[in-house]
Amino acid sequence: MAREQAAVLTGGAREIAPATGKLGVMLVGLGAVSTTFIAGVENVRRGRALPIGSLSQMATIRLGKRTEKRMPKIKEFVPLADLNDLVFTAWDPIPDDAYTAAVKAGVLDRHEHLDPIKPFLQGIKPMPAVFDQYYVKRLQGTNVKRGKNKRELAEQLREDMRDFKKSAGVDRVVVVWCASTEVFLTPGPAHQSLQAFEQALEQNDQSIAPSMLYAYAALMENVPFANGAPNLTVDLPVMERLAEERHVPIGGKDFKTGQTMMKSVLAPAFKARMLGLSGWYSTNILGNRDGEVLDDPESFKTKEESKLGLLEQILQPELYPELYGKVYHKVRINYYPPRGDNKEGWDNIDIFGWLGYPMQIKVDFLCRDSILAAPIVLDLALFFDLAGRAGLSGIQEWLSFYFKSPQFAQGLYAEHDLFIQQTKLKNTLRWLMGEEQITHLGIEYYEYAEK
Ligand SMILES: NC(=O)c1ccc[n+]([C@@H]2O[C@H](COP(=O)([O-])OP(=O)(O)OC[C@H]3O[C@@H](n4cnc5c(N)ncnc54)[C@H](O)[C@@H]3O)[C@@H](O)[C@H]2O)c1
Repeated sequence: MAREQAAVLTGGAREIAPATGKLGVMLVGLGAVSTTFIAGVENVRRGRALPIGSLSQMATIRLGKRTEKRMPKIKEFVPLADLNDLVFTAWDPIPDDAYTAAVKAGVLDRHEHLDPIKPFLQGIKPMPAVFDQYYVKRLQGTNVKRGKNKRELAEQLREDMRDFKKSAGVDRVVVVWCASTEVFLTPGPAHQSLQAFEQALEQNDQSIAPSMLYAYAALMENVPFANGAPNLTVDLPVMERLAEERHVPIGGKDFKTGQTMMKSVLAPAFKARMLGLSGWYSTNILGNRDGEVLDDPESFKTKEESKLGLLEQILQPELYPELYGKVYHKVRINYYPPRGDNKEGWDNIDIFGWLGYPMQIKVDFLCRDSILAAPIVLDLALFFDLAGRAGLSGIQEWLSFYFKSPQFAQGLYAEHDLFIQQTKLKNTLRWLMGEEQITHLGIEYYEYAEK
């Protein structure tokens, strides 16, 4: 084993700055996901509901041997910010405050979860956004920043971050992108180095989308950035390098919530049992604003790429050509207003078994998009803040658990299997705290047990 690798595995606890003071959570976008997250946290803080779906709040972590029976809650094991110390703000081109936006989103019951905290939600008014309809065709915004060029707009975002720190009295800040999916872009020359990027800002280069301005501003302010949509944003050489250089954690892309979460559970099961797959047809009906934005072919293309990638990575057709060499994989999203945020995702899966006999599986997931996404926003905010305080920088692959299309270091490939991702997350927490890694070998209970 290389010396560095041994040091990683056997090192003691990592030095982690304490989570003292307040944590500012700056959300890009104040739509369905953001308002469901904010209102949810406030309801939890007031003892009116439970943070279901959040690992950071509800999950336990096993430490040491099974015989030791040590199973603390994650939030008692690692020094996370307390929910009472979270302060929220957001940017949005639509000027609705968080109460109005939450009512329009129609996710949470108004009487049960919004009206009792109305003044709190009304107090969260979005700052003017960096927004350009070229990148999100189906939206029109009025609450928008003006500037001579993209560089000036990025400077305004940096100022927002500094001002928020002062005015809200927060000690640390994290940014989570919960805004609309931008049109499909591929990395180009402007994304390769800081110099090229800053020059492109100056020249209003079209390859620099608004999300990249938020990411750049956050990194320049040493603020961790998590990307909940499939846009490139921090998945660019310039951002990765900047994050490394400035020792800031970054991660993305695209919250892994409904259909893709199920895919990342089922596909590994087929592979584990060496069952073949001939086709996977996924379709959705969705009626919220996100659905409307994704109805635009250019935004849909960004989402499609994010949803399609994982099967190939999980199934490794190059290793198993007889089982996965000819998979027909299709993903559709249909904008259907009557359903609002209550998405329905259907999957038809054609598999084959012993001697090639075909079988079918149908999944009909009547989910609630933002109900699944809100706890992910919470965990990302808390874990990215933890990563920052622990001195982790660059891509946080251990948080792949939360993303449809996880970012990864050069020379690797993304790990999509939900349970490998969960093991990676928990082992990283053990490693941060100087606890033994859990290998699940278990032979010691038999071979070396005292009889
Ligand atoms: N809910 C889920 O399960 C889920 C899963 C994965 C990804 N996502 C992604 O999360 C994002 C948010 O989803 P949502 O349902 O809240 O959508 P939404 O349309 O309700 O909210 C997005 C908000 O972002 C704002 N916005 C757009 N461009 C902006 C900009 N440049 N700056 C600031 N704000 C901007 C819009 O005005 C809107 O209010 C989408 O990109 C969606 O694809 C959601």
